[in-house]
Amino acid sequence: MSFVMQPSIQPYLRVVGSEAGSGFRADMHAALGAARRSISPKYFYDARGSQLFDAICELVEYYPTRTELGLLRTHAGEIAALAGPQAEVVEFGAGSLRKVRLLLDALDRPAGYVPIDISGEHLAQAAQQLRGDYPGLAVQPVVADYTQPLQLPAGPHKTGMRLGFFPGSTIGNFDPEQALRFLRMAARVLRGGALLLGADLVKDPAVLHAAYNDGAGVTAAFNLNLLARANRELGMDFDLDGFAHGAFYNSPRRRIEMHLVSRRAQRVQLDGQAYLFEEGETLHTENSHKFSVDSLRALAVEAGFTPGPVWTDPNRLFSLHWLASPA
Ligand code: AVJ
Repeated sequence: MSFVMQPSIQPYLRVVGSEAGSGFRADMHAALGAARRSISPKYFYDARGSQLFDAICELVEYYPTRTELGLLRTHAGEIAALAGPQAEVVEFGAGSLRKVRLLLDALDRPAGYVPIDISGEHLAQAAQQLRGDYPGLAVQPVVADYTQPLQLPAGPHKTGMRLGFFPGSTIGNFDPEQALRFLRMAARVLRGGALLLGADLVKDPAVLHAAYNDGAGVTAAFNLNLLARANRELGMDFDLDGFAHGAFYNSPRRRIEMHLVSRRAQRVQLDGQAYLFEEGETLHTENSHKFSVDSLRALAVEAGFTPGPVWTDPNRLFSLHWLASPA
């Protein structure tokens, strides 16, 4: 009767490896076992993926980063006036130090900086660099998944408002329901303060298409790195030449979708389990939702915010929103 023991081996295999690796492993099994295959874009960001993302931000086709930096620079004074003195900045995701530095440099004696990120390593690095450059700033990193309910450490003794910072249009990675859930959580955490939120705007699909299909193939490499990472960390056997980068604008749903498209019928294995891909079948790796100024503000109102000023560039590529969270 030893065969009845067999099923118990599977759960054991799933917990082998690092904590992060086991989430990736379980999510990869779930993705490959589903009829429509999709996996969270959070798995893009290993060391190599983060490097490739930084390279994306420098591409001529990828307008969001430089446009948002421009908005932060241009409106830093107004933002600082709204925030008042001794604000405590809470960043959802320890993203680009360049962006938060622009904000901190503009603010009147910022009292604290609380970056929240799932990667402890990424956080520690960011925190160290900022501590060196802002001696008066209480830097308190929090290792957490900010899509889950959240408790923040008590801030420094005397502070002004709590100012949330969520740049980059990372909100676009969420489905509409997840975005609402996130904004509700943010409104609660930031009660009496505000959220400074970056959101990419709906625009000419050709401009969107180019931003996710750059000529140098950096976005393709970023997408395909997910398979390379699965090979490295999960011992999978994806043939990287067997998959193509696919990115297109889904106009009714107002989002860029990224997929990894199987170029031929093929099989891959994970933990000895075989998964088949038909030719043209995809693994959906990312949604990047686009907003109108009004749709974003309506979503914020639904989540409990009182929208304040919105800043956009003259070409209306990107938007930066001041969303107050009433006490
Ligand atoms: C980090 C989610 C804002 O959606 O534009 C860039 C990620 N993916 N190119 C985006 C991304 C492909 C980016 N966000």
